[in-house]
Amino acid sequence: MNKTFLFGAAVFSALTFCSGKISAQIQDGNTPATGSPKILIAYYSYSGNTKEVAEAIHEEIGGDLFEIKTEGTYPENYREMTQQAKKEIQDGYRPKLTTAIADISQYDTIFLGSPNWWGTITPQVSSFLESYNLSGKTVVPFITHGGGGEQNTISDLTAQCKGCNVRKDGWVGYNDRTFGISGWLEDLGYKK
Ligand SMILES: Cc1cc2nc3c(=O)[nH]c(=O)nc-3n(C[C@H](O)[C@H](O)[C@H](O)COP(=O)(O)O)c2cc1C
Repeated sequence: MNKTFLFGAAVFSALTFCSGKISAQIQDGNTPATGSPKILIAYYSYSGNTKEVAEAIHEEIGGDLFEIKTEGTYPENYREMTQQAKKEIQDGYRPKLTTAIADISQYDTIFLGSPNWWGTITPQVSSFLESYNLSGKTVVPFITHGGGGEQNTISDLTAQCKGCNVRKDGWVGYNDRTFGISGWLEDLGYKK
């Protein structure tokens, strides 16, 4: 475990446990479409930060919001949870998706959100990438982290997204930071 992560994990646990967000992930996957039907905002969020960023993007540009959920659970103990996640990443574990998109072909652009876990995207996001054919689509990553920044998240996402046009200028934000999202979307050319 490197120092950056230790710092990030400490800040992350303090913030999430203080704000009680650890249970904030429980919400239904699909919400009704608003705005452009061609944009999908898909995300995995364990403790709520990436969900907050996804919702902020959705508020700005509309589209369909989709929460990636999978089989499997994590221990309540934070250290045990992070160790299980580490092993899953090392083993290339791909949990089975329990939420589904009816027709992925209708989307031109997919905003894809993941927390940074051990320097990379989560197994749940990897399962999503392996389950849907995103070839030819523009994929805009949005990453939340606990102090380590982007690390290998966007490069790993790019490698796992076969045939996609992955934007390099994705969102990389500390925990649930949403300040700056509006300007970022404007720069990308997605503001309504
Ligand atoms: C298993 C695990 C591993 C993590 N690894 C890192 C890391 O390597 N670098 C980092 O900056 N933050 C790391 N974090 C902190 C999260 O990336 C950060 O808090 C993120 O915003 C959590 O998103 P979520 O609330 O949507 O789950 C890790 C958190 C967990 C639970």
